[in-house]
Amino acid sequence: MRYRLERQKSGALAVYNTAYAETMHPGAGPWAEANALYVQGSALAALLLGGGAQEAGRRAAAHRGAPLVLFDVGLGAAANALAAVTCRDELARRGARPRPLHLVSFEAELEALAFALAEADALGYPRGQEPLLRDLLRDGRAERDGLRWEVRVGDFRRRIEEEPERAEVIFFDPFSPRANPELWSLETLEALHRCRPRAGGTRLVTYSTAFGTRAGLLLAGFFVGEGPLPQARRAGTCATTWFADLARPLTPAWLARWRHDREPWPPLTPPAAHRALRERLLEHPQWAQFPAETPAPPEPPPARRIGRTGPGRTGPRRAQSGRTEPRSAEPRSAEPRRAESGRTEPSRTGPSRTGPGRAERPPREASHPGPRRARPRAARRRV
Ligand SMILES: C[S@@+](CC[C@H](N)C(=O)[O-])C[C@H]1O[C@@H](n2cnc3c(N)ncnc32)[C@H](O)[C@@H]1O
Repeated sequence: MRYRLERQKSGALAVYNTAYAETMHPGAGPWAEANALYVQGSALAALLLGGGAQEAGRRAAAHRGAPLVLFDVGLGAAANALAAVTCRDELARRGARPRPLHLVSFEAELEALAFALAEADALGYPRGQEPLLRDLLRDGRAERDGLRWEVRVGDFRRRIEEEPERAEVIFFDPFSPRANPELWSLETLEALHRCRPRAGGTRLVTYSTAFGTRAGLLLAGFFVGEGPLPQARRAGTCATTWFADLARPLTPAWLARWRHDREPWPPLTPPAAHRALRERLLEHPQWAQFPAETPAPPEPPPARRIGRTGPGRTGPRRAQSGRTEPRSAEPRSAEPRRAESGRTEPSRTGPSRTGPGRAERPPREASHPGPRRARPRAARRRV
């Protein structure tokens, strides 16, 4: 048996995989993280209702009645998938008439699912959903009113190439980039980007905030922003095909920090590709969404520079990949400028057509990151 239950500091029980030596949903536990990061972070309820304040919600109105296709990458012990099912069940129970949900889960093997079913009482969240999980284990699919759930078993990298469905929402939850690098490679992220619906967009949510992950998502063709839990240790990342869908887009200040990171590339990126990828990243249309005149943070007087901790710079934090990322609030002046139509889509092949490209004029912050805390020598390599 490759799985066991592990008590988290929060008191929640989570599932530990001995082969990867990693816990699924560490810290907060499976149900809390599945709901806060994935269900709320993707605005799933708004999309299911075909409305909402976000651009995604407004666009979903066009799909009213059509099933919402959700890709659940790394089904594991099914916490994320069951949180999505429960979200829809709740809406229906309140008489809100949500769209049908078509859940497509990807998983290398179903042992964790069987484990979650066997431990339903201890874990809590699978309770009441056992018939669905049994059908899924036996037939690879389960169906009931308003829900179609299918599991694609095998290596995600192959299954995604054969996948006929297009995803409006993606829960991206492999093991960490260090333990499970193939699923965080640029090649895999590009395959995910190709799965966006032909009309409308897609929204991906993941727990990783690593520079390599975010750079990979940008390079794959997404716009990228902070996840729904900016104050939490596992803040998460949100990636969309429409800039206007991001509540907290990464700003040029993030790009400046990326250039100094020790691990700026998605896993498995060959060194020979770094130069071209760096150019592509600097040209990404996301940076053109910010006013070029965004002032650089003021230089503090020399006496106050040493050991300064400004707002949001309260110290290093451990990122998911186990390395240290600086904690830093984005400058207030770097408010995003929405493309007029709000419909800017990033191109993976060239500079932005929607505004001043950063290729010709790198963001001021990129060469002038402003005051920063002293960082370990190895982390100061400039990309
Ligand atoms: C962190 S766990 C997922 C937890 C799950 N989302 C949940 O809510 O319980 C990551 C999962 O990704 C699966 N996985 C890792 N590499 C994979 C691959 N190449 N193809 C398909 N699944 C993979 C693992 O088997 C594991 O179950």
